[in-house]
This record gives sequence, structure tokens and C-alpha cells, in this order.
Amino acid sequence: MPEQKQLYLYNRAQLHEPGGGDPALLAFERQWIAGQLAEIPPADCPGDLAGLQQRLARLIAEEQRELPESAGYVGERMTLDEFRILVQEFAVDGLTEAQVFYYILPRLTLEAQMPMLRIMIDEFGSGNLKRAHTSLYLELLRELEMPTELAFYSERLEPESFAFVNLFFWLTLRADDPSYFAGAITYLETAIPVFFECYVQACRRLGIEAHAYYSEHQHIDAFHAIEGQRLLRAMQATDSLCPRKAWLGARLASAITAAAFEGAVGKARRLSRQGEAANPRATGTPGGHLRPAGQLPADNHGAACR
Ligand SMILES: [Fe+2]
Ligand SMILES: [Fe+2]
Repeated sequence: MPEQKQLYLYNRAQLHEPGGGDPALLAFERQWIAGQLAEIPPADCPGDLAGLQQRLARLIAEEQRELPESAGYVGERMTLDEFRILVQEFAVDGLTEAQVFYYILPRLTLEAQMPMLRIMIDEFGSGNLKRAHTSLYLELLRELEMPTELAFYSERLEPESFAFVNLFFWLTLRADDPSYFAGAITYLETAIPVFFECYVQACRRLGIEAHAYYSEHQHIDAFHAIEGQRLLRAMQATDSLCPRKAWLGARLASAITAAAFEGAVGKARRLSRQGEAANPRATGTPGGHLRPAGQLPADNHGAACR
């Protein structure tokens, strides 16, 4: 039975050699996404762009009104060793940040490519390697005296942490409609400036100077949220937006990001209690699976958009 790690390693290989694929892994991915979609109430889906925008605003406002206890813990109490585990769990994303987004561009109409391209320019530091978001993550890893090789992290992440990255491979490479991606990216860019406050607070409290990965996202994602809205409108104007699928993409991003964050904070606290969080080099194998990958219910959102 494949797991998220095998799917992640397959996805990385696909970046260099797209096409084809392991049928068992792709079936695993289909089952995983179907299970996630099955948890979203179908009646909640919007029928037009205005309905999508209202639901997105409401979802984000609700989430920000009730930030999870884990976010407060990160901001106010998390120790430096625990913070290293949190940084470790998101390293496969930070070390390859936005690279898979290249694959969505040709799937968008030319008009919709423009806002996405403007987001990409920022992700890659406007062509300045030092400002690329991956470089900011590298600075953070170096200050925390953590390894900078991607392979190190591929060996010790939780399934939820791989799932966060794998969602973007599915959204960009295999989802049947780029609307899923458009909803997901607009949700994330809008939610991150507030959600990253706990990371910035932790860096300030713990005296971490390489906080730019988090503080830069707080700044730039406010602009990316506007680009996300432009992306949705450009897709609408070119008759390529399915509001229902965009909403499902946003809900997937919300659920999978929350699970990854909870999993990472939970792992940091668990290892800390066990006295193992002193140095990520010494944490060895990942902790127990927080959510075993079991049989997932069928997709109840299977109807084509148009
Ligand atoms: Fe970024
Ligand atoms: Fe962004």
C-alpha cells in the first residue's frame, strides 16, 4: 500500500520527466483526493464568482476569528528545539517553493496567466536568487543549524507534511480543471499574512534573525491575495472558471494545510516531551502516523462543471 512519502518521491521525479506514472501511486492519489473532497458538504458549493468570493471571505474570516490553539502555542510558548521540528516539517515545501506552479501556467488562459506570473515573479525574488523564497528558507535553516539538503527532509516527514506538498502536484499537474488551483492559491495567499503571525512572533521571541521567510510572506501575500482575485476574474472573463471546483480547491487547501500544521506542531511537542527535539539531525525516523491512511469514502463531487 503506497503512502504519502512514495507519492511525493514519484511527484519529484515527474518534475524532471513528466508523463506516465505508477498506476498504484496515481490510484492512491485519486483515492486520497476523493476522500478529502467527500468531507466537503456539496450543498455548500457556489454557483458563480460572487458566491465563490463570499464563501472564501467567510471561510477565512471564520478561521482567523478562531485561530487554533497550536498557533498560539507556536507564537507564545514553543521552544527553539520544537521550532526546528516545525521548520523541518515544511522544509520540502520551502526548499522547492513554487517550482511546481510552473506547470499551471500553460493550463491557464493567457489572460489568467498574467496574475499568476506576477505571483511567480515574487516567489523567485524578481530574478534575484537572494530574494527567492527558497533562499529565505535556506537562510532560516542555516541559522537554525539544520541541514539544507532536500533528501534529508524526504526521509523524516510526517504523511501530513508530504500531503501538503502533494496537494500542489495534484492541483497543477493532474486536477481536471485549473479552477481547483485558482481557488486553492487565492485561499492561501489571503490566509497567510494573518496565519504567519505566529511564526513571526516565535522568531522575535526566540531571537531568530532569519525570519524573512515568514515576514516577507506576511508582506507580499497581501499583494498575492489581490492577484488571486484577479486570477479568478480573468478566468471568469475567459469562460474558464468553475466556481464550484475553485471552492473545492480552497477547501482542500484549508483542510490539508491545517492538518499539516497541526501534525507538525503535534510532532514537535511530542518529541519535546520525549526529549528528542534537541537537534533535528538526531530525530531520525518520523514519529507515529497521526492519521493512518485508510479506506477513503468516494468522491461526492464527481459531476463535471460544464
Ligand atoms: Fe512564497
Ligand atoms: Fe505568495
